[in-house]
Amino acid sequence: MQKDQIRQGRLPGERPPGVMRFLSSMDADRWIAGADLLVDMAHLLMLRRQGIVGEDSARALMTALLDLYEHGLPGTAFDERFEDIHAGKEAYLIERLGEDIGGRLHTGRSRNDEVATCIRLRLRDEVIALARALIDLRQTLLSVAGQHEGTVMPGFTHLQHAQPTTLAHHLLAYEQAFARDFERLRDAYARVDASPLGSAAFASTGFPIDREYAARLLGFSRLAENTMDAVSSRDSALEVMADLAICMATASRLCEELIVWSTAFAGFVRLDDAYCSSSSIMPQKKNPDTAEIMRAKAGSVAGELAAGLMIVKGLPMSYNRDLQELTPHLWRSVEAARQSLPLLSGMISTVAFDADRMQREAGRGFATATEVADLLVGRYDLPFRTAHRIVGRAVRHGALDIGTLERAAREATGISLVERGLSQEQIDAVLDVRHAVAVRDVPGGPAPSAVRSQIEERQRRLCDDAAWADGAAAVIQNAFEHLLTEARRLVS
Ligand code: ARG
Repeated sequence: MQKDQIRQGRLPGERPPGVMRFLSSMDADRWIAGADLLVDMAHLLMLRRQGIVGEDSARALMTALLDLYEHGLPGTAFDERFEDIHAGKEAYLIERLGEDIGGRLHTGRSRNDEVATCIRLRLRDEVIALARALIDLRQTLLSVAGQHEGTVMPGFTHLQHAQPTTLAHHLLAYEQAFARDFERLRDAYARVDASPLGSAAFASTGFPIDREYAARLLGFSRLAENTMDAVSSRDSALEVMADLAICMATASRLCEELIVWSTAFAGFVRLDDAYCSSSSIMPQKKNPDTAEIMRAKAGSVAGELAAGLMIVKGLPMSYNRDLQELTPHLWRSVEAARQSLPLLSGMISTVAFDADRMQREAGRGFATATEVADLLVGRYDLPFRTAHRIVGRAVRHGALDIGTLERAAREATGISLVERGLSQEQIDAVLDVRHAVAVRDVPGGPAPSAVRSQIEERQRRLCDDAAWADGAAAVIQNAFEHLLTEARRLVS
């Protein structure tokens, strides 16, 4: 049975299993085990190139690392008697190669820079995957919006019928919010993409290491330079967690819409059965459980961020073991978002909209009253506040017809609208919900022509964003191909 090599010198005694379990980060380390092998290879190539580890040891170590990379780490490396995967892997290498060889890989390195590098390596992939999930979701929203440029629906403020809009406009609002969520992740990526490797415990090392070379091998665009900061900061992880908390809040809002829209009260949508559940007692039930779970996950992800901030806020420089406790929060928030975004895209692309019902509701609750006020301003040169008062009073009297408006105008201002030429036809024309939408033809507005040009513009932006994700992924892939080529060249 392999021992935890790290304890042998200073603390050779046994520890109670409860302590070992308490200290071990093994569960979360499954996220970084693959990255750790790449970090090992880059570190080893650097050690050999700098003449810090000899040719024979380097070759034997690399043979083992390539074998582990291709066939996976053995289950024993994940045993909770090890504090983490770094210790479990080192114990395995020493058992397999003997200490004279296996004990050389950790030269000029600490688990502190090792784990910080592994987290950033894995997080880079996850951020790109999340960015791509957001691109897919945005594409779905744009496509469905494109089918509903002319579908009129009620818009709400305070969840009260407010003014008519188009379904395309409503969906584009979410596309725009998710585009900002994408931008935030892309910005965070630049700060994740920096290499802590070579920082060792925090003060770097006296060996003549080449940090830049190791960073290049791992496809990092730069160093996380100050070695104390590099091992002890997790703000780039916190930033991604914050971005995901915000993104999930956006997703949760859309879920909330789907939940409300699918009620019998609203009846705007029918969710696909695939995303719904039934009841164990009420045989008629179809519940929007996927949207509900997602709404709750947004709360969990916000909680992960809060936990992460609380963990780091009191830590003095440099590495403190508390940092280990942050990492599972990071992966949980990544996992929640990675599960949620494709499901949300699936829900949106399969939902059936009841366009007739939406249009009927669009005019409810005097939703076009603003149009009547605007008519009085535009045609009869009343100040908007005066027109607002007249129309508000007419609504209080219960109708927006010529008689009621005339009465309201006389009561509120003493003037006669009829004498000024207001007619029932003029009122009917502006009360039409299609008219209310069509005149709102400003950039970003709900008119069919306005949403059409927004969709075209957003589609172009989406292509640029997809190109960024492809570019970032290609940089990593090229670097790893080169790294593996160099690793194989060493052993051949
Ligand atoms: N499992 C640790 C973590 O996730 C690795 C670093 C351990 N370093 C230490 N000095 N105990 O942070």
